[in-house]
Amino acid sequence: MTLPELKSAFVSAYGQEAEAVYFAPGRVNLIGEHTDYNGGSVFPCALSFGAYLLIRKNGGNTVKFRSLNQPEVVELGFDQLTTPLDKVWANYPLGVFAQFIKRGIAITEGYDILIWGDVPNGAGLSSSAALEVVTAYALNDQLSTGFNRTILAQIGQKAEHEFAFVNCGIMDQFASANGAKDHAIHLNCDTLDFELVPVKLEGVKILISNTHSPHKLDSGAYNQRVAECQLAVKQLNAVRPIKYLAELTEADFKEIELAITDVTAHKRARHVVGEVQRTSDAVKALKANDLVLFGQLMNASHVSLRDDYEVTGPELDTMAEEAWKIEGVIGSRMTGGGFGGCTVSLVKDEAIDTFIAKVGAAYGNWRRSL
Ligand code: GLA
Repeated sequence: MTLPELKSAFVSAYGQEAEAVYFAPGRVNLIGEHTDYNGGSVFPCALSFGAYLLIRKNGGNTVKFRSLNQPEVVELGFDQLTTPLDKVWANYPLGVFAQFIKRGIAITEGYDILIWGDVPNGAGLSSSAALEVVTAYALNDQLSTGFNRTILAQIGQKAEHEFAFVNCGIMDQFASANGAKDHAIHLNCDTLDFELVPVKLEGVKILISNTHSPHKLDSGAYNQRVAECQLAVKQLNAVRPIKYLAELTEADFKEIELAITDVTAHKRARHVVGEVQRTSDAVKALKANDLVLFGQLMNASHVSLRDDYEVTGPELDTMAEEAWKIEGVIGSRMTGGGFGGCTVSLVKDEAIDTFIAKVGAAYGNWRRSL
């Protein structure tokens, strides 16, 4: 939708013009998967797709949430802004209101809010983080709270924990809040220090391919991975005090890995330790313009997420593995939480048509074979 269309949709919904419009992007993660809640680093890029929020003060004492993507309209009094609703999209913006209130900011004015997003839901491209961050950004401006973008990202992350019940790391909200055009963000998820790294790819495109098999973060599998990593840390603490798996180099891990007696937790930890190293190597490779190495690290990341972290599944594997066979594909891997969603690939311009035809055909054949 264009901005004028969004503005006129607001007038149709509320009978008055919006007073302000805000935008926050979705993200695609190039490498560094399931490292954020393990104190590791990540390397996502903000997208030009995202969430738009239009708002006006309504002079009343309710906050109204509407979305052009969802049917439910939600209207809440000020005393209802801190309790999650039962399985409704509005929990994402509502969770952000709740975080402002928790930080001592009173909501004393009513608002009419209209949201529209063009990040496909459930694609692993952070449609929910975009929605949380755009709400945080809008409230910060409307209430003149002066929170910096890191705090806005943390507010979004807390909203996800407490209103969507996903114990996510900070990557998605941080990338949405701090992303910049033509850059990826190398973020240390422990210290929250970050560097914007230029992504200037001569003759190469970043392709995002959607399996349309929704990733099921709320199914509990994500929280289970978080818990398995915590178990690995707990068991490792018998031999070495650590807070996060990312504190270990691969050499450290080899020395003490036998302390992890739980077989599943051991595999999860091996992925995390390897992925932290791959992410750091990939950032160096990109800075040195060594795309071949970058691509190899992407592929290795996928293999580790497939075999050790077990978050890919046949849809993502079919697409990534087909892509690897194509000349001109530099690298291809799943991106985001996994269990469906998208792959991200670096593809030479001249191979893009072949990529679309071959990966599309392989995926179609696999689906038909079910
Ligand atoms: C989801 C979470 C992130 C991160 C990724 C996996 O997108 O929201 O915090 O853990 O999965 O890298």
